Amino acid sequence: MIDSHAHLNDPHFDANLTEVAERANQAGVEGIINVGYDLESSHKAVALAEEYDWMWAVVGVHPHEARLVTPDTMAELERLARHPKVVAIGETGLDYYYDHSPREVQQQVFHQHLELAAKLNLPVVIHSRDAAQDTINIVKEHPDNRCVIHCYSGSLETAKIYLDLGHFISFTGSVTFKNAAKLREVAAAVPLERLMIETDCPYLSPEPMRGKPNEPAWIEYVAAKLAELHSISVDDLKAITAANARLFFNLK
Ligand code: NI
Repeated sequence: MIDSHAHLNDPHFDANLTEVAERANQAGVEGIINVGYDLESSHKAVALAEEYDWMWAVVGVHPHEARLVTPDTMAELERLARHPKVVAIGETGLDYYYDHSPREVQQQVFHQHLELAAKLNLPVVIHSRDAAQDTINIVKEHPDNRCVIHCYSGSLETAKIYLDLGHFISFTGSVTFKNAAKLREVAAAVPLERLMIETDCPYLSPEPMRGKPNEPAWIEYVAAKLAELHSISVDDLKAITAANARLFFNLK
């Protein structure tokens, strides 16, 4: 399995990183993509990728922090993104649920991330919450970018628009939640060749671990649920989603 979106760069893991990595390995996780959400966490994701040969980094500034982005921030991200183990730009996008940054600023910074990714020929990790229409509009303005919509929480109709544009969709432990019947319908309809799995740890622990801090080893539960939804074996689901992640992020 490949955990296509984790935050082992989060301070939560400072105390137990070695054990968490070991448990992931024992659970059959062969790769972890650690995703930055500001400059500091992006640097940390790169440092982890240097330390562990089975980890890679994604660098970017989360829409929550978009108000803090300056031209210097983008220049620093570009410098970081030229590191050989940086495999995408993100997470970037729009979050109108929390609105921690003004929406126009989120949009502007999202455009800047998409432009940087195109310049460096890297894919993009997109966070979109309560902002489907604006996310689609902006993504459509950048037809050369290859994107994954991470922690997918939208409608089937929206998913189909992303799929028609050639993008990938990734699911977290939220597909296992008891009240997530709608999301499971969406997950069942995403073609296997466009599907990725992730933990988004330390957030979004799957059932039956809900309420505890999440970690990559528990991606097993996401894989099992998606296998059930697609009526294939868990081993096949793991192999297909890992191959998709290798392809999408061009993992060496
Ligand atoms: Ni995340």
